[in-house]
Amino acid sequence: MKKTIIITGGAGFIGSHVTRLFVKKYSDYQIINLDALTYAGNLENLTDIEKCSNYKFVKGDITNEETIRSIFNEYSIDGVIHLAAESHVDRSISEPMAFIKTNILGTTILLNAAKLHWKDNFVGKLFYHISTDEVYGSLGAEGLFTEETSYDPRSPYSASKASSDHLVRAYHHTYGLPVVISNCSNNYGPNHFPEKLIPLAINNIKKNKPIPVYGKGENVRDWLFVEDHAAAIDLVFHKGKQGETYNIGGNNEWTNIDLIKLLCRIMDTKLNRPIGESEKLITYVKDRAGHDLRYAIDSSKLQNELGWKPSLQFEEGLTKTVDWYLSNQKWLDDIVSGNYQQYYNEQYQNR
Ligand code: NAD
Ligand code: DAU
Repeated sequence: MKKTIIITGGAGFIGSHVTRLFVKKYSDYQIINLDALTYAGNLENLTDIEKCSNYKFVKGDITNEETIRSIFNEYSIDGVIHLAAESHVDRSISEPMAFIKTNILGTTILLNAAKLHWKDNFVGKLFYHISTDEVYGSLGAEGLFTEETSYDPRSPYSASKASSDHLVRAYHHTYGLPVVISNCSNNYGPNHFPEKLIPLAINNIKKNKPIPVYGKGENVRDWLFVEDHAAAIDLVFHKGKQGETYNIGGNNEWTNIDLIKLLCRIMDTKLNRPIGESEKLITYVKDRAGHDLRYAIDSSKLQNELGWKPSLQFEEGLTKTVDWYLSNQKWLDDIVSGNYQQYYNEQYQNR
């Protein structure tokens, strides 16, 4: 094998797309998917590649120092692509400690293991940390986040991701650990956990349930199809400059309400409903505490230096996503009937 790579959080939404891409594209890499299988981890995301000889799943928690050290001792690791995290902003508001533990402590335990294992021989090694645009805070009507934008995280989730970014940079500057970081905007696509806006709305529209829109629906997000993010991660992992940060975004800003209306139109067509029928399900609910108004990414560094660009127009990507959810009802039902249900009830009972 040319390289042995750990992908943390490989059973999650983005991680499963990155894992599939690497397993299929690099048959000479040994890919180890290290995931604790929290509520958000789902091995059903990877059934198509689970028998590939260059793929291995290891169930392990990144906050467990012993587990992580033993994995680094057992395998000769060349690279880490670190996606494992608590990722949902609303959960971070009700349960911040889980975010502090996994996102900050877990990242530091991984950094320590890499530093210890690689000693000072960093040739051919890389620790790639996957982060978010939310670390930059919230924009007004104008402007874009660049790699130079000062950090200004405003939720426990974004603060925990910002802390992990700082720690990754600190290990580079202090110990010379070879690292690279990317900060991406909102992803959407197949396998997205239905606590997040788009899959939650698809599920509710299908079941004729209210679509909860926070506040007035005026908040803006910059949406990127998940496979385009995975392609960017592949590029940054192989061609990115050590110590650098790359912003990744869709150049595709939508207010939540316009996005939901577009989604309703696509669903009406797919479900043979009269156009306008699903929009009747839109229900304005209490706003998210500290709700960031607008995120928008300037990805020109990645585009100019590494030649990446998004491949899908939003309506095309959203249609593909709806098609996937409609033909993978079991995937959705298994999640919605499980642990997720209790969380959903608690989250929405007072809205
Ligand atoms: P996700 O919640 O769908 O998946 C997270 C995965 O990490 C799950 O498989 C879970 O089991 C695993 N995990 C959680 N805690 C763990 C622990 N302690 N040890 C080992 N595994 C653990 O998340 P996602 O949306 O796929 O996001 C992946 C990464 O990308 C995160 O770091 C997130 O901050 C970042 N990100 C996400 C988006 C987005 O729009 N979803 C955008 C930018 C950046
Ligand atoms: O920007 C990148 C981030 O995008 C990632 O780092 C996070 O991991 C990911 O979860 C996502 O965060 P958001 O908070 O932007 O995503 P979410 O899908 O939770 O919400 C999108 C927008 O929709 C946000 O403005 C809140 C709003 N919303 C969300 C839900 C769940 C609603 O109006 N109703 C809802 O029910």
